[in-house]
Amino acid sequence: MIKTPKMTTHQIHASELKREFNRLFSRNPEQLFFCPGRINLIGEHIDYNGGQVLPCAISMGTYLAVAKNNDKRFRFHCLNFPETADLHLQSSYSKTGAEWFNYPLGVVDRILQDGHDLSGLDLLFYGNLPIGAGLSSSASIEVLMGFALSSLFGLDIDKKDIALLAKDAENHFIGVNCGIMDQFAVAMGKKDHAILLNCDNLGYEYIPFKTANYSLLIINTNKQRSLAESKYNERFTECGAALKLLKQELSIQHLCDASLADWEVNRYMVNNPVLEKRATHVISENQRVKDAVIAMQTGDMELFGKLLYASHHSLRYDYEVSGKELDTIVDFCTDYPGCIGARMTGAGFGGCAIALVQENKIEDFSEKLLDHYTQQIGYAPGIFAAAVSEGVCELQITN
Ligand code: GLA
Repeated sequence: MIKTPKMTTHQIHASELKREFNRLFSRNPEQLFFCPGRINLIGEHIDYNGGQVLPCAISMGTYLAVAKNNDKRFRFHCLNFPETADLHLQSSYSKTGAEWFNYPLGVVDRILQDGHDLSGLDLLFYGNLPIGAGLSSSASIEVLMGFALSSLFGLDIDKKDIALLAKDAENHFIGVNCGIMDQFAVAMGKKDHAILLNCDNLGYEYIPFKTANYSLLIINTNKQRSLAESKYNERFTECGAALKLLKQELSIQHLCDASLADWEVNRYMVNNPVLEKRATHVISENQRVKDAVIAMQTGDMELFGKLLYASHHSLRYDYEVSGKELDTIVDFCTDYPGCIGARMTGAGFGGCAIALVQENKIEDFSEKLLDHYTQQIGYAPGIFAAAVSEGVCELQITN
């Protein structure tokens, strides 16, 4: 019997996209691209405070099939959403409504602002990341668009700069004051490595992601997030206010420039209990990242796990961005003997948690968590293993 080689997930999605592209535009796509989503191992809500973060790209993400057209139009389609856009090529765009195509359109606008000439494009997207689940579906589609434009029009923008312009589009076109972590992680991800990123100067280092006999699981709360963007911007503003007060005593540029020792001596300057809690999280979280990297490099997974729990505790009580759903998951993990660490990942307010679970306990852990969460929250969580993967790339078009 002749064996047909097994298709990879990328090949399956690429051939489906190609078929759908053909059906929609009556021709073949010229190029195909993929950009992953990300998880953040530790270092939450400190990228916009000049801290260090430790994210990794994951195997799920966003796909794009694309071809240039001669009629000066941008036609946006996506297999996940019914909404489409058909826009004339203009010198600039602005956000319209809350539809998905604003994310890639923001990047188109940003590249036009840089003075690059573009022609019209027929675009078909597809994503297999749960949307709004804190795995950076927005950074994924933004970086994907930037990378595709750079490749299609020979703009030669390096991946780091694509991450920067995608962040800029998210800040100014979409209106979320996010830091650089997500765009950087999905652009620069490396298989089986986490990225230790200094968000102040963008220096980075790849840290081998070895978890001994533990597996990293992603647990999706499946909570519909609401108010997440405004709460996120509120935290951003609170950190700015705490920084301003601390600057009266310390010569620092970002909250993360303060050490824990500086903070203990000078916290009285922040004479507002809410701002004090926010700064406590930020400054302690930055230290936890440093400790977590050492734990990872020395293979001390128990310590790494403890730091994950400590990070969650700080996000829950000091930064106040967790919630009943995430806390139900992390509390379950704390009580489960085969789980050595867990925390929310990403912005919070719902979204996903990550957990380090002994490999031979995964089935039992998943069954029990599913029952417990469903009983407490009223609907089921999603539980899947994280595969740490490469960043944005072009895919081969096969027949
Ligand atoms: C979101 C933002 C990131 C980062 C995280 C929290 O994912 O896009 O820039 O601030 O929240 O760490």
